[in-house]
Amino acid sequence: MIPTYNEKPNLRELISRINEACRSHGIDVEIVIVDDNSPDGTGALAEELGREYDVKVIHRAGKLGLSTAVMEGFEKASGDLLVVMDADLSHPPEKIPAMVEKIRSGSAQVVVGSRYVKGGSVENWPFYRRLVSKGATLLARGLTKVKDPMSGFFALERAVIDGVELNPVGYKIGLEILVKGKYESVEEVPITFADRKAGKSKLGASVYLKYIDHCTRLYEHNRPWLARYIKFAFIGGIGTLINLAVLWTSVEIFFVHYLWAAVLAFVIADTNNFIWNRWWTFRSKGKVHLQYPQFLLVSVDGLMLNLIILKTIVEDLMPALGIQEDRASMFLVFAQIIAIFIVSIFNFIANSFWTFGKDISRDSRPPE
Ligand code: GDD
Ligand code: MN
Repeated sequence: MIPTYNEKPNLRELISRINEACRSHGIDVEIVIVDDNSPDGTGALAEELGREYDVKVIHRAGKLGLSTAVMEGFEKASGDLLVVMDADLSHPPEKIPAMVEKIRSGSAQVVVGSRYVKGGSVENWPFYRRLVSKGATLLARGLTKVKDPMSGFFALERAVIDGVELNPVGYKIGLEILVKGKYESVEEVPITFADRKAGKSKLGASVYLKYIDHCTRLYEHNRPWLARYIKFAFIGGIGTLINLAVLWTSVEIFFVHYLWAAVLAFVIADTNNFIWNRWWTFRSKGKVHLQYPQFLLVSVDGLMLNLIILKTIVEDLMPALGIQEDRASMFLVFAQIIAIFIVSIFNFIANSFWTFGKDISRDSRPPE
C-alpha cells in the first residue's frame, strides 16, 4: 500500500526497488498505489508503471488524506499480507523481505519498520524534527510498547484488521492498528529513515493537533472511564482557578459582598466546567437546556457533600485523633484535599450516568 500525493519524481525508483527486493526473496508482490489526483501527474505515471510491474492504481478525486488512502488500499489489495509504506523513499524497500518473513514464520502478526530500536536511525533530521518526533512518541507510550509507533512503514496480516473499526481521523493509521488491531505479537525491524528524495512533506501544523486528539481518543478507547475521569478532573482544576479569580476580582475590584461573590464565582466556574466537559470529556451532542441545569445541580450536591465531609473530618475526626489547635489549619487543608477528591468522583459518576448518561451508553464499554 503506497499512498501518494505529488510523488512523481520518486515513484519509478521506488517501484523498481520494491520489485527487486521482493523478487530476490521469492516474494510475490502486488503494489497498490492510492493516488489522490496529484496535480503533478503521479497517477498517470503509476498507470504507466503498471504496464511494467504488477501495480494496481486507485485514483481518488482529491486530497482525501493519508489514513483513508491506506484503508482504501487495504480494501482493494488482493493479498492477505499487507505492507504500508511512504512513496518518498524514506522507507527502505529492501527491508520488506525481513518484515514479511517475521509474519510468514508466525513470530508476529504485525511488524513495524522502526527508527528507534537498536540498529535503526534517522538520516539528516534537524533538531526540531527529532524533538517533535520524540515528543509524539512519548505521548503514545501508554498505548503500545512499540518503540516507533509513529512509523508509516509496517506490515500486518489482514486478519489483524478484519472487522475492526478503524477511525481515519488520525494521520497515524499504524498507531490506530497497533491499538485496535487483533494480534498476539508485534515485532520491530530496524530501519534507517532516509530524507525524502524529492518533493515536500505533506505534514503541516494542524497534523500535530490532530495527532494529540487522535492519541486522546485511543487512550479513551483503551480505558474510557479513566481517560474521562482525568479530563474531568483536569477541567475541574482549571475551574477552581477560575473560581478563585472571579471571587478575588469581585470582592477587591467591584466591592461585591464576599458571599455573593462566592455564588457568582461558583456559577461562572461551573458553567466553564460544563461547557468543556460536554464538548471534550463526554463529546456530547445532547440537549444543553436539560444538561446544563443537571450539571449545576450535581455540582451543588457536590458542594453539600464537600461541606459534610469537611465538617465530619474537622469536628469528629480531628478531636478523636487529638489534633491540637495550632496544627488545625494544616489539617483543614489536608481535609479539604480529601473532600475535593471524593466530591470529584461523586460529581463525575453523577454526570456520567445522569447528565451525560445517554452519551456514555452510546459509545463506551463498561468500566475496566
Ligand atoms: N493519497 C494520499 N493522500 N497520500 C498522501 C496524502 C494524502 O492526502 N498525504 C500524504 N500522502 C503520502 C505522501 O505522498 C507520502 O507517500 C506519504 O503519504 C507520507 O507523506 P509525507 O508527506 O512524506 O509524510 P512525512 O514524511 O512528513 O511523515 C512520514 O513519516 C512520519 C515519521 O516521522 C509518514 O510516514 C508518517 O506516517 C510518519 O509518522
Ligand atoms: Mn516523508
